[in-house]
Amino acid sequence: MATVLKTQDLQAGYLLLTPYGERAILAVNGVNIEIFHEEIYGIAGESGSGKTTLLKTLFGEVEVPLRVLGGKVYYSFGNEFVDALLLKEEEKRRIRWRYISYIPQGSMSVFNPVKRIHSTFLDFLKSHVEGKVQEELFELVKKHVSALGLPTKVLSAYPHQLSGGMKQRLAIALATILNPKVILADEPTTALDVVAQRAAIQLLKDIQREYRNTIVIVTHDMGIHAHMTHRLAIMYAGRIVEEGPTSVILDQPLHPYTQYLIGSLPTIGDKTFRDSVPGAPPSFLDLPPGCAFHPRCPQVFSVCKTQTPELVNVDERRKAACWLWMERG
Ligand SMILES: Nc1ncnc2c1ncn2[C@@H]1O[C@H](COP(=O)(O)OP(=O)(O)OP(=O)(O)O)[C@@H](O)[C@H]1O
Ligand SMILES: [Mg+2]
Repeated sequence: MATVLKTQDLQAGYLLLTPYGERAILAVNGVNIEIFHEEIYGIAGESGSGKTTLLKTLFGEVEVPLRVLGGKVYYSFGNEFVDALLLKEEEKRRIRWRYISYIPQGSMSVFNPVKRIHSTFLDFLKSHVEGKVQEELFELVKKHVSALGLPTKVLSAYPHQLSGGMKQRLAIALATILNPKVILADEPTTALDVVAQRAAIQLLKDIQREYRNTIVIVTHDMGIHAHMTHRLAIMYAGRIVEEGPTSVILDQPLHPYTQYLIGSLPTIGDKTFRDSVPGAPPSFLDLPPGCAFHPRCPQVFSVCKTQTPELVNVDERRKAACWLWMERG
């Protein structure tokens, strides 16, 4: 399988001035992931676990106060790996939206409230496509929007005239108009009702099937991962703590944190309130020693409190960062 994107010991975060001096919030703490051509790769985890920070860094959108504090992000072009974090602005401009695109959290707000939807599309294309006149660009927009099964009449609407679900699907259309190889989507369904969620997910799945690209989707909604992703990474306090085929993880989660995340999944028709993960995620300014999950873990034992488990292969397909699954020498 061809790799499209990989990281090596990626560390990224925010520098904060505290009464004790400058402290780093390592929201991405030593992440190693490898993502393959044509796969849908999911990232799940509670609020504040570092999912958005990871996606921004993968996109190379590292702007103050975010900083890369170590490690690498590589994009694959042909047989070559390019260090995405060393690209010059001009190179980034050429690659963005064509090789890699990003649907940010809350992306419906990309549409300017005082402009019709097509203006945002045209402004975007004008700054990324050379040598085409306005009419040609407009044709391109209409073609893409209808290829995605969306009505072209929405292009002449103002954002407030459209539902949240339609705006979200248009934001997905905007991010995919230059047919990127890799699409990074951050919570593309939050704040939508169930019907609109399904439509947004279906749209992403259709795009993937039609254009045979790769999608990295972040959502805390395990039901969406179950419906759409091929592989899944579980993030906790800036680290990936489990990774593997989604169906296997959902059937037999290895990490106690993953077990809780899945246990708190409501099933369709089940109106009873399920337990969510007990306790709260730790503060990045005061991470527990050892495994960051240990104060909340029902299966904690002594080594968990002092040593951080690495993410290692538990079997051929699965990785976990948990002392329960490590050979302890
Ligand atoms: N601009 C910022 N300045 C300082 N800290 C930040 C900033 N943005 C995020 N953080 C911190 O980094 C950590 C990770 O945040 P991030 O937004 O990546 O999490 P997330 O998993 O995407 O959460 P959510 O599910 O709520 O979107 C959090 O502790 C957050 O408070
Ligand atoms: Mg986020």
